[in-house]
Amino acid sequence: MENVVYPNHLGIIMDGNGRWAKERGLNRSLGHKAGADNLINLLNYIYKNTSIKVVSLYAFSTENFKRDKNEVDYLMKLFVTLFNSKLESIKKNNVKVVFSGRRENLSKSVLEAMDKTTDDTKNNTKGILNICLNYGGDYEIVDMAKKVAKQVLDGTLNIEDITKEVVSKNLYQDLPPLDFVIRTSGEKRISNFMIYQSSYAEYDFPDTYFPDFDSKCLEESLDNYRKRDRRFGNAK
Ligand code: IPE
Ligand code: IPE
Ligand code: MG
Repeated sequence: MENVVYPNHLGIIMDGNGRWAKERGLNRSLGHKAGADNLINLLNYIYKNTSIKVVSLYAFSTENFKRDKNEVDYLMKLFVTLFNSKLESIKKNNVKVVFSGRRENLSKSVLEAMDKTTDDTKNNTKGILNICLNYGGDYEIVDMAKKVAKQVLDGTLNIEDITKEVVSKNLYQDLPPLDFVIRTSGEKRISNFMIYQSSYAEYDFPDTYFPDFDSKCLEESLDNYRKRDRRFGNAK
């Protein structure tokens, strides 16, 4: 493991659950369930077999509330189960779970499950799992601007002292920049995922739908990452 270069912060846009289900003649919800089962296996693999420290997951975008109520309700129930029981192995593996997104529009049961998970894992040190739920990268920047503006208005921050560090500290979570973002299902867009943190990220867009994106697929994506020449503006 030591000789292999892993991204420090990996982002996963878990897409294709609906198409996975449709191809099998199943309801979209069953695609989400298959995606959640796959996620647990994938996370256990990542935290056991790689040196990736931070994983950010796109679980539900602010725009996903536009979907059919049945699908949204199913997803919300799935999140509660996921946080209250299925994430147990992650919690036991010393991983700290944090959330990014707006709390408004989330039900009491989802918020309670999120808060309990945050609290249960707050002292864990092996890795960080950042779950983006009711998350929009544009809203994250709007909400950061409001927090910073308040500090300027109440006199605790001078305008001249607004730096990249200050911006980062006032985002939903203060995380290192994303090194690598994988979006499954073949769509080649980022759909409002961590737009500030991904300024220098590498991308991979495998065709596989998320429920089928197993550790072997992940390793293939990581091989693609290792072939990239990350220059950060330097001359070659
Ligand atoms: C991703 O799968 C899961 C969420 C957005 C919550 P989709 O539900 O978007 O699956 P497709 O894109 O319709 O196949
Ligand atoms: C992005 O997927 C959101 C998540 C994976 C949670 P979508 O399926 O919602 O994105 P679009 O609508 O295809 O851009
Ligand atoms: Mg989709």
